[in-house]
Amino acid sequence: MPDPKQLIVNVFEMACVSHITHGLWRLPGNNRLRYGELDYWTELARLVEHGGLDGIFLADVVGAYDTFRGSADTAIREGLQIPNLDPLLLIPAMAAVTDRIGFGATFSTTYEPPFAFARRMSTLDLLTKGRVGWNIVTSYLPNAARNFGLEDQIPHDERYRIADEYVDVLYKLWEGSWDDDAIVADPASGVYADPAKVHAIEHRGEHFRVAGPALGAPSPQRTPLLFQATGSPAGIAFAGKHAEVVFTGGRTADDFRRNAEAMRDAAERQGRERGDVKFVVQAGVVVGRTDSEVADKLRIYRENTSVDGILAHAGFPFDITAYPRESPLSDAVTDAGAAGHPAVARFPEGTTVGQALDQLVKTRHDRFFVAGTPGVVADEIERWLDDDGIDGINLRQYHSFGTVQDFVELVVPELRRRGRIREHEAGETLRERFFGTPRLPERHPAARYRGGKNLSV
Ligand SMILES: Cc1cc2nc3c(=O)[nH]c(=O)nc-3n(C[C@H](O)[C@H](O)[C@H](O)COP(=O)(O)O)c2cc1C
Repeated sequence: MPDPKQLIVNVFEMACVSHITHGLWRLPGNNRLRYGELDYWTELARLVEHGGLDGIFLADVVGAYDTFRGSADTAIREGLQIPNLDPLLLIPAMAAVTDRIGFGATFSTTYEPPFAFARRMSTLDLLTKGRVGWNIVTSYLPNAARNFGLEDQIPHDERYRIADEYVDVLYKLWEGSWDDDAIVADPASGVYADPAKVHAIEHRGEHFRVAGPALGAPSPQRTPLLFQATGSPAGIAFAGKHAEVVFTGGRTADDFRRNAEAMRDAAERQGRERGDVKFVVQAGVVVGRTDSEVADKLRIYRENTSVDGILAHAGFPFDITAYPRESPLSDAVTDAGAAGHPAVARFPEGTTVGQALDQLVKTRHDRFFVAGTPGVVADEIERWLDDDGIDGINLRQYHSFGTVQDFVELVVPELRRRGRIREHEAGETLRERFFGTPRLPERHPAARYRGGKNLSV
């Protein structure tokens, strides 16, 4: 019998009050209001490490959700991802109190130049001894574009084309600029680094001009572990070329499988191997010692969930809550002039306003959601691993730190008994945890720049 497949568990976070479980910040004992305290992050990091989990994955947006009801008022009122803090700045504090867990941070390729980001990420990879990952996003909020000097958003597929050149610049800086043996650090000769082994990159592309050499010192992983979340053809092609871990949702098992196959096909088309891409899903786990404890938690979460928050987060194009529940959704959509908007197009003919609202709330209970006692939860997670083919989960927090504490106390021992959680080795980089090696494989496009090769083409 081969060893059972083991689960990677990250805690899904964002440095704000209301990330994805809208309204729940109000629950007694929830620490979300402390997101601006350093202690919040160091406590969480210790809990994740001592609990045997793999890491903390930080989402980020650089604009406000201002579509719903025509303004950012709902988002501001609810602390919905505004205010928020820069996720990169939280990592050194968490790294200082841990030595095993990884940190994934979201950063957009659309607004800040690659040279500055390359330097920041190398700094983090060095300081954490190779425990960082980057969630590559191109940013979907129109307000973000206006924050960075644009009149409007750059069209979707164009953002991915820019991202493609952006990561190319990063690869040149991270992989190609400093040879592995460039640093000599020899006090006798007074030579710190060998100039012959440090290369300018002289990148002159359509969107970026970067001379180099990289300022960031060569770090354990060089390129941080590359995460991405996507669903569009342009995004899937990008992921096939670049991403190592795809972070995805999926309402049904078929949804997930179709998406995963599309990414693996795209990777193969780029000369990579199907196993070069792993899949981490956003998952909801509500666990209790008894069925009635589980039922209580579910009831409390349901009663405190903010529908306004969900609608504002989804960028719902009109105020659906202003229409009677029993009226047809199509009438409301026509009345609001929102026909054809993607947020409403997904509902089948004949859906009522009430059904649409219920479904919007329930999307949080999709394929990768389980509520139950530890045995029930572990059985379901084993199905996700073995039947659906996921590699890991990003654990959605209903209550901080209650959700993580429950998972650590009740689910981890059960998964351990079943051989589904692996013990971590100190000194392991994040890429080693996922792929067994600290550096990108030779078949990844970043590798072509190693040793200063191919930089000027
Ligand atoms: C689970 C999940 C988490 C995401 N987290 C972020 C995030 O933190 N910041 C962000 O700008 N976009 C985030 N996104 C959005 C993606 O970057 C992307 O815009 C979205 O998946 C649509 O893909 P597409 O651009 O290929 O159509 C997330 C998407 C998913 C599915």
